[in-house]
Amino acid sequence: MSPRTSANPTAFDFDAPPPLRGTGSCKWDAPRGEGVLPLWIADMDFAAAPPILDALRRRVDLGVFGYPLEPPGWRPALCGWYARRHGWNIDPASVLPSTSLMPLLGAVVRAFCAPGDAVALLFPAYNGFFPEIRRQGVEPLCVPLRPVPPRPGATGDFSAEIDFNALDRALAAPRTKLFLLCNPHNPCGRAWTRDELERVASICRARGVPVASDEIHADLQMPGSRHVPFATVAPDAAAVLLSASKAFNLAGLQNAALVCPDPALRARLAADLEARGAAEPGPLGFAAAEAAWREGAPWLDALLRHLHGNFLALASFLRERLPALRLAALEATCLAWMDATAAPAAASGSAALARRLEREARVKLSPGSVYGEAPGTAHLRLNLATSRARLLEALDRIAPILGPAPDNPQPKGPQP
Ligand SMILES: Cc1ncc(COP(=O)(O)O)c(C=O)c1O
Repeated sequence: MSPRTSANPTAFDFDAPPPLRGTGSCKWDAPRGEGVLPLWIADMDFAAAPPILDALRRRVDLGVFGYPLEPPGWRPALCGWYARRHGWNIDPASVLPSTSLMPLLGAVVRAFCAPGDAVALLFPAYNGFFPEIRRQGVEPLCVPLRPVPPRPGATGDFSAEIDFNALDRALAAPRTKLFLLCNPHNPCGRAWTRDELERVASICRARGVPVASDEIHADLQMPGSRHVPFATVAPDAAAVLLSASKAFNLAGLQNAALVCPDPALRARLAADLEARGAAEPGPLGFAAAEAAWREGAPWLDALLRHLHGNFLALASFLRERLPALRLAALEATCLAWMDATAAPAAASGSAALARRLEREARVKLSPGSVYGEAPGTAHLRLNLATSRARLLEALDRIAPILGPAPDNPQPKGPQP
């Protein structure tokens, strides 16, 4: 991405991404096929926001990279961002820095669960949750989301809702010791509403099950949606896991945080993270996250407009060229979720379909199988964080495989 367009120095151009192949990018360099367009892992094709790059340059110019202390500005920047952007007043003392979310999740699971216990979570779910929970000798207990029609006026063919009775049953199981909420939810792009979160909180409270809320996608809200921090609904939430890494594309800089209001639990988690080497993000990660939270809003707002434009372009393309694919309404995240079950090419399941798309169309998408899609269905997850041209090229490439229209197409949702 060129940082700013020359016509308008305050605008950002997300349609001119920088070269990515050969930069050591997992998204671009891991796919082995020649010229594969990668729309899989949740990582963006864009250079970081200009104020972040400036902050990194200033930090590099210091020239010293020994063991770091948390910089004095990082915690106030985090708290300021969440107060301004999401109306959540975080007690600075409740924050623990860390390198990334999965070590934080591991620590929270260890704090509440013994081997043989279970963590309940809504499903399909981010694929990284499963190994991290199992590594602790703990079982993920999956509560399936229910497919429902999209909200009136939303672009998309379906949405998802929480089956509160199923959640209650899962939490009632004696071995369930923790509920892991993904807010907003990846995959499927739901931004949970305050009403939904209040019901979750009240069921968890009634069953005496603590909640850990993964809010890594909080800042990626589509127009008409807003992030409701779980802690604004349940200030006693055991732990909220967050990072600037998704919205500002900084995953490689390894900077995240845990917000935990209970001092005794926080001390245990801090000791656990320390013992596992996950309590000390590096100086560049600190500098980048601080700059994102202090000065990143204009870039993020422009990014969200671009992502939404890409989502509408995807919806139009599917309507016109790929009617077999049903698109989930996108409220949050940069990850479109598509039900390809009706496409003849999906008959052998999403894993085989994704392999074929990579091999024959040279487009890498994520198969629903890795997130635990419902049996007998085939879903694909597509990362919208690229240029419009690259998105359309990828869609052109997959269209011959995923078309033609099924004989009995499922009803499509409203036009954008
Ligand atoms: C919901 C969710 N949580 C956590 C992560 C990974 O976070 P980290 O790289 O900080 O461990 C991802 C990555 O895509 C994610 O989607």
